[in-house]
Amino acid sequence: MRILIALAAALTVAGTTTAAQAAPTVLAAPNINVANVQSHLNQFQSIANANGGNRAHGRPGYLASVNWVKSKLDAAGFTTRVQSFTYNGATGYNLIADYPGGDANNVVMLGGHLDSVTSGPGINDNGTGSASILEVALQMKATNFKPAKHVRFGWWGAEELGLRGSRAYVASLPATEISKIKAYLNFDMTGSPNPAYQVYDASHSTFPPGSAALQQRLQAGFTSLNVQSELVDVQGRSDHGSFAAKGIPVGGTFSGAEKTKTAAQAAKWGGTAGQRFDRCYHQACDTTSNINATSLDRHADVIAYALWATAA
Ligand code: PHE
Ligand code: ZN
Ligand code: ZN
Repeated sequence: MRILIALAAALTVAGTTTAAQAAPTVLAAPNINVANVQSHLNQFQSIANANGGNRAHGRPGYLASVNWVKSKLDAAGFTTRVQSFTYNGATGYNLIADYPGGDANNVVMLGGHLDSVTSGPGINDNGTGSASILEVALQMKATNFKPAKHVRFGWWGAEELGLRGSRAYVASLPATEISKIKAYLNFDMTGSPNPAYQVYDASHSTFPPGSAALQQRLQAGFTSLNVQSELVDVQGRSDHGSFAAKGIPVGGTFSGAEKTKTAAQAAKWGGTAGQRFDRCYHQACDTTSNINATSLDRHADVIAYALWATAA
């Protein structure tokens, strides 16, 4: 009996400690199941395998990727639309998905590019961002999330050729629609095999006012997981650049590409110092074998944390 009471007391203390450490917004956001994100990555790999090994702009693997993501969102009740544009003599496509409800004058957007380079299947770049925002979208519906703000997702074409799809999207919007978008969060590479846990540095001159709050929310997401993040100066190297150019506050997370992990970074994150974050960046070996599942999982949880906190 005394043992049972002691055990119950220990369990109570453990439960209290957990609850006290978690901020309310953390409790609200779902923990994203990385197995679901990995299953989406497997689908992108299959699409590349069936279409000449890539999912690049103007190639059949790109449109197959759009159609597959669209089918998942349609089944979950999103309002989807495929926007066409022309670049380099080929038709490109953006997939836009609106979650029903929320204040249409206060829009929060999440996005990532769905195209790969021609040299490989693009599973880390950017199957990871694409699959993670897809799973977060599906979990909005599964958890019956009712955000105050309207939430919209974008999967962009032809990022690898110079942010072409996201630029076409913002160019298509009248100023009134641009002004309704209060935040844009970008996810491009989140499962790098020798991973970083980085948040876009909002102090760069191209990041509009309001971006610092998004940066802080993403940093808080990593803190909630007990992961030490750091800021990274990505300037306009991905689709957030198209939104920043229109004055929309932007943010994002990044697990690293062609740069080399330092000894200090390996000390806090594990992995291998002196080796690139992604040694298969833009190569044929950027397959489902080129993914660190812990990184994929943590970045996906931070995406959910930031969306729930920003849109609630
Ligand atoms: N946009 C780069 C690419 O797709 C990768 C990148 C993402 C670089 C985010 C910096 C920041 O190749
Ligand atoms: Zn990319
Ligand atoms: Zn790339």
